[in-house]
Amino acid sequence: MGRLPNSPLPVVVLISGSGSNLQALIDRATEINITIRAVISNKADAYGLARAQEAGIATAVVDHRQFPDRAAFDQALAAEVDRHQPELVVLAGFMRILTEDFVIHYLGRMLNIHPSLLPDFQGLNTHQRVLDTGADQHGASVHFVTPELDGGPVVIRGEVPVLADDDADTLASRVQEQEHIIYPQAVAWFASGRLRLNNGIATLDGQQIPQAKARHT
Ligand code: GRF
Repeated sequence: MGRLPNSPLPVVVLISGSGSNLQALIDRATEINITIRAVISNKADAYGLARAQEAGIATAVVDHRQFPDRAAFDQALAAEVDRHQPELVVLAGFMRILTEDFVIHYLGRMLNIHPSLLPDFQGLNTHQRVLDTGADQHGASVHFVTPELDGGPVVIRGEVPVLADDDADTLASRVQEQEHIIYPQAVAWFASGRLRLNNGIATLDGQQIPQAKARHT
């Protein structure tokens, strides 16, 4: 059941918090040819749910605390996602580690944004860790989600300089400005069919997207 040519790509966005990346996608949805069918949060008080409702988008909460284990939560989450039949799942500040089954189910059609220049600084507290390391560059990366946490092929990175007087908050807000540029860009590429995951390799217009080497851990 394919889409009509040029019809908007159906997307489901998963969030846990503020949803500023969600907002960037809402604001540019028409331009980048997507339709956000639903926003799903694992937290009922996520501000992103209000952003979705304001934009007239369906919302749902699947609270991980209501499930005995990760597998049961992920099954319920996948059932809720699949109800909306998205062609792309966008993780936008979704703060749960996903099971391999979940990730494989959406392989090649799920993107995440991570607040570092991957493959550097996978995991949490990236801004403080960058400051502690004394790195002079920082940023954000959009990547395909694979079973390796924060380890899937990188699609696009947005860089910011680390300034002498930065703290974790000033750095985070500069990085977020980049996030709001690169995430809609990556989603636009996917929606137009230019971006694909082929045999574990991210390609843009059929060319492998170059992957940076790790400089920090
Ligand atoms: C972003 O910094 C993103 O990189 C990280 O979580 C944050 C989400 O922010 N994964 P928001 O909810 O989109 O405002």
